[in-house]
Amino acid sequence: MVTAAGSPVHLASALEGIRLILHVLGAAVWVGGQFTVLALLPTVRQLGDDAPKKVAQAFARLMWPAYGLLLLTGFWNIAASDVSGASSTWKAVLMAKVAVVVLAGVAMFLHQAAGSRRATAIWGAIGALSSVAALCLGVFLAG
Ligand code: HEM
Repeated sequence: MVTAAGSPVHLASALEGIRLILHVLGAAVWVGGQFTVLALLPTVRQLGDDAPKKVAQAFARLMWPAYGLLLLTGFWNIAASDVSGASSTWKAVLMAKVAVVVLAGVAMFLHQAAGSRRATAIWGAIGALSSVAALCLGVFLAG
């Protein structure tokens, strides 16, 4: 059996599997968590004035370790790839991905540190959109 690109399909090795599973789990928590918290926000607001802050702080305890895991396994992904033999397009997508990953981290940090509701919303939106962009670019890098 061959893929649409013409190369034979194959199972990932155990180490490849562990690397990609950890990377995808990190992405699931970092990206999925942001949208889950956003979807729960109207309900959380009904629980009290300080409820959104408490939920955000609880999510931060999970979100930042997930971001750390993404950075760690992201560099592991690069180390495991034949970057010198990769096309210039692949390298350009990787550069774009690293840029949106940094933007996502900075935006989420500023989202948490923001003093006004407007700044919180703007940085939250930038953080969520750049996180989704990182996820999409990652799928293309995986090929
Ligand atoms: C917000 C942070 C990140 C998210 C949401 C994310 C998401 C993803 C996803 C969903 C994949 C596809 C996995 C697959 O289909 O098997 C992927 C692959 C990849 N990511 Fe990330 N990633 C992030 C951070 C990073 C960082 C910081 C780097 C590098 C410094 C990186 C480098 C890569 C590479 C090279 C691949 C291809 C892996 C392969 O095929 O072996 N990622 N990423």
